[in-house]
Amino acid sequence: MLEMRTVTPGEFVQWTRAEARAHGNRLDDDPEALRPHFDLDRSIVVLEDGEIVGGAHSHRVEMSIPGNSTFIAGVANIAVQPTHTRQGIMTKMMNHQIHDIHDRGEPFAALFATESLIYGRFGYGIGSLYERWAIERPHNAYARPHESPGRLVFVDPADITKDLPEVFRRATKDRPGVFQRPPHQWKRESLAPEHSQGGQGGIFYVAYEEDGRMDGYATYRISGNTLCVNELMATSTEAISALWRFCFSVDRTSVTEALKRPVDDPLPWMLADPRRLQRSTRDGVWVRLIDVADSLSLRRYMQPDQLVLEVKDELCPWNDGRFMLDGSREGATCRSTDSSPDLVITVQNLASAYMGAVSFSALANAGLVEERAQGALLRADCMFAVQNQPWTPCNF
Ligand SMILES: CC(C)(COP(=O)(O)OP(=O)(O)OC[C@H]1O[C@@H](n2cnc3c(N)ncnc32)[C@H](O)[C@@H]1OP(=O)(O)O)[C@@H](O)C(=O)NCCC(=O)NCCS
Repeated sequence: MLEMRTVTPGEFVQWTRAEARAHGNRLDDDPEALRPHFDLDRSIVVLEDGEIVGGAHSHRVEMSIPGNSTFIAGVANIAVQPTHTRQGIMTKMMNHQIHDIHDRGEPFAALFATESLIYGRFGYGIGSLYERWAIERPHNAYARPHESPGRLVFVDPADITKDLPEVFRRATKDRPGVFQRPPHQWKRESLAPEHSQGGQGGIFYVAYEEDGRMDGYATYRISGNTLCVNELMATSTEAISALWRFCFSVDRTSVTEALKRPVDDPLPWMLADPRRLQRSTRDGVWVRLIDVADSLSLRRYMQPDQLVLEVKDELCPWNDGRFMLDGSREGATCRSTDSSPDLVITVQNLASAYMGAVSFSALANAGLVEERAQGALLRADCMFAVQNQPWTPCNF
């Protein structure tokens, strides 16, 4: 007999162990250290005869959206014990959680998916994309001569909380899809000295400074002949150029890889031979519009316009209907309407267009949007256009 409810304080440690087991992970940290980061009221446990067989969690996190930022539900720790998978336990938890988030008044939810097949059925759509790169040293020259007015310095991990969070903030300004790394995460990373970080070789922090100001940093590891860039944040062209040149040139490495780069990153355009940069694209964050009207009102719109959207949502009856959106760069309103629709779209695909990850026209070409009023696709594309493509460089 299955029981689903919130986690009690006494169950917390078992619950974290069950989650780690479902992911096949060793639980290295003391689970008690994790407790302050969990709101038990938002933690779901599924029990069978008193044994934990599933769990899920959500917490309030701030996420940037086009032209604004807002608090949303960050969904994580979804796990079903390997002994109990494919019996509908996750489905029960996800349905329950969507209603819980709605009751809390949070406009949408976001998560990172282990498999891209799982969450579309619950109305989650791809909210951002990222690229993985690899380039061999003989082919990494820039098209224009590289001159650097600044200098590169190593930052001791103990000092990363001083300037790096501010560089991260400036480098991701006006970029939808970003979660600012919370102070406790920076702190945790700062407490781990270079040599004690996992994997082969430590993690190193190098920063670019100009006129006494930090304008960028890169964190990287070296494994064999490969330098792997974990994160590179920069606020000026000089910093971008200097940091990548450094990551391309460290002795004893002949390949540079990068994880999680934005799809509109300038680096490919700076290379003399861009074809040599191997690029592959993956889904980043997944977004679920929990309340369509509230979500659409929160965004800002590149081109002022009005649109009637007919939204299909099988799980949330309050979203399933027609909405009149009136939006501009200054603000937006969205309300239910009986007017005939300009476009018909599912809540899943609307989430992707909402974030700017895809245009309405591209979705229509894929058969995923119906244009009921002539010209509505182009109008919607202009309205929902974004200056910077959505990017989610770090988890919440
Ligand atoms: C992923 C996981 C939570 C799924 O739980 P579950 O209880 O087996 O899921 P359900 O039985 O409710 O499955 C619902 C549907 O999703 C599909 N699905 C579930 N897991 C899937 C996966 N990993 N890949 C593809 N499809 C999956 C099921 O086939 C089912 O489809 P159907 O309704 O067409 O038959 C569970 O397998 C798990 O904990 N895996 C390890 C940890 C993990 O990956 N967690 C997700 C973190 S984002």
